Amino acid sequence: MDYDIKNIALADNGLLRIEWARGSMPVLAMIEERFEKERPLRGIRVSACLHVTSETANLARALKAGGAEVRVCASNPLSTQDDVAAALVRHFEVPVFAIKGEDKETYYRHIASAIVHRPQITMDDGADTISVLHADRKDLLPTVIAGTEETTTGVIRLRSMERDGVLAYPIIAVNDADTKHLFDNRYGTGQSTIDGILRATNLLLAGKRVVVCGYGWCGRGVALRARGMGANVIVTEADPLKALEAVMDGYSVMPLTDAARVGDLFVTLTGNLHVIREEHFQLMKDGAVVCNSGHFNVEVDLEALGGLARGRRMVREFVEEYTMQDGRRINVLGEGRLINLVSAEGHPASVMDMSFANQALSVEYAVKHRGTLEKRVYGVPKEIDVQIAALKLASMGVRIDELTPEQRRYLDSWSLGT
Ligand code: ADE
Repeated sequence: MDYDIKNIALADNGLLRIEWARGSMPVLAMIEERFEKERPLRGIRVSACLHVTSETANLARALKAGGAEVRVCASNPLSTQDDVAAALVRHFEVPVFAIKGEDKETYYRHIASAIVHRPQITMDDGADTISVLHADRKDLLPTVIAGTEETTTGVIRLRSMERDGVLAYPIIAVNDADTKHLFDNRYGTGQSTIDGILRATNLLLAGKRVVVCGYGWCGRGVALRARGMGANVIVTEADPLKALEAVMDGYSVMPLTDAARVGDLFVTLTGNLHVIREEHFQLMKDGAVVCNSGHFNVEVDLEALGGLARGRRMVREFVEEYTMQDGRRINVLGEGRLINLVSAEGHPASVMDMSFANQALSVEYAVKHRGTLEKRVYGVPKEIDVQIAALKLASMGVRIDELTPEQRRYLDSWSLGT
């Protein structure tokens, strides 16, 4: 079996972490058990370009249990858990191509290695495999049945490919399932981003002015959790609806040029580029901390910051201090890459349980419907979403009400009124 990982000797530690995560992934475990019996993915070749974490390892196990041949590569050069990568290779015989800290050339070489078996399903977190297939490996496109996409950023890209008529195979937008973005993006990003910032810096959040750039589901989660730890949260937005929601959720809302003067800690989660740029760095206080939790490392314009700085040095493992011409210091966390996966462990397993249940069931759906789906971006079927919510509630021991026949009739009718 071919693979490229940091160190196979880390495998036993990785196995412990995979088992620990599995304990919080009951929905995925149930799917795995059914897959093992029914083998709905028998012989299906899957290339999964995901953050290589203990949660992703459990997804790979479920797909394998369903009969798939899975190859895994990283969806970010800094997010790989090297012990988990080793465990996947040694204990689960999954070829993995991922090393934490890999350079750009290695990152793309690893994607190339993950697609050598001519994938029938691509699974992405940020659409990089899909981009590579469409740009450089068009020869592999005809055998692809479908792809799945995990993130808001990736789905935006794929919808624009669909609009431009260049999308070569059907995509299921896992991100858009309610059991994905309402939980993973909000509670997962909310908690893990704060976790990453604290592990990197050991800052006290109480009393700090935390500037959250972007009020999508991820931004909402970070704002909520930062407020919960006593920070004064400022939200910046370009979308009037989201800005209005932030105002009514009780946050201060202002342009980033105003927030830049007062913020202690800045977090970008917009999916856009150069959100924090030269004009903002020029205004920041001495000691300001800047990080990103959006998918790509383009939200903080580090090139501009480098141009303004007279010096830079690492002051902690994931903290780089830039000294400006006037002596002010700006601290950048994790090279502007997703801080929740760089200095922490990403979202907790309990929330990835639902995201990856969506992935597993979407792959099963795509395989079952092969040949009937168009070259479009589809949502996850509603029945799958509702089934995952029901299973998650059951796993938590939470029971809910059932509609009475009379209530069902009322909801179905248009003639019953007062
Ligand atoms: N994205 C965010 N958190 C993650 C995790 N723990 N595993 C895989 N992908 C993630």
